[in-house]
Amino acid sequence: MYRRPIFAANWKMNKGPSDTAAFVKSFLSKLTGRQTSDIVIAASFISLPTLSESLSEARGVEMAAQNCSQYDDGAYTGEISVKMLREILVRHVIVGHSERRSLFGETNAVINAKLKKAREAGLKLIFCIGETLEERNAGKLESILRSQITEGLENITVSDMEDTVVAYEPVWAIGTGVTATAQQAQDAHAFVRSVITELYGPEVAGKLRIQYGGSVKPANAAELMACPDIDGALIGGASLDAQSFVDIIHNGSLT
Ligand code: PGA
Repeated sequence: MYRRPIFAANWKMNKGPSDTAAFVKSFLSKLTGRQTSDIVIAASFISLPTLSESLSEARGVEMAAQNCSQYDDGAYTGEISVKMLREILVRHVIVGHSERRSLFGETNAVINAKLKKAREAGLKLIFCIGETLEERNAGKLESILRSQITEGLENITVSDMEDTVVAYEPVWAIGTGVTATAQQAQDAHAFVRSVITELYGPEVAGKLRIQYGGSVKPANAAELMACPDIDGALIGGASLDAQSFVDIIHNGSLT
């Protein structure tokens, strides 16, 4: 089944508004030809309005938030609600990134609450999962992915899944320069798709786009994207440079 690739930049806590504007200008000037992939940029909350303004002429490049609150509104100091994100025309939200899990204590239950809240507001989901090196070495890869998926997606419906992308990001490959081999990535993606098949059936699983994330670079994008179950990438470090993000999109879209 054909699945349109989706490349998402995850800038993490980098680029304020002025760097964001400069990036977009440079990025759009380098992004040539008709795009055969979806492109998303996840900027920090404070840079999203500038991102929106800078992208206004650019068809097909959409904005994502990197996180959202599981609550509607009220006394949650420092939090950002899904309604606020919608108000500034954000389309996608990353939920469950391993940094949120490990540094900010987000459990599968919290992630599930955020995914549900984001769907209620009509946001599209980029739902991140992935194992640590310790878990992989202990033979727990599949059990960890299975519990992240089943607990994370509890009460997420078949129609929600149409607006969901799963990002498989082995924690040991994030920001380390160590990429999973194409075979390791493909095996994990095939497993993720099999769990989605069990939960939602073959049609949903066949349509689901599964991104790979973890040290994706221009040099490895083509090999990873050539794998049958890899449908795009979530890119951290290498998305901070406009040329390198463009090269990943171009190299990854050729396959
Ligand atoms: P990286 O990050 O590309 O810098 O490894 C990926 C991510 O955390 O989404």
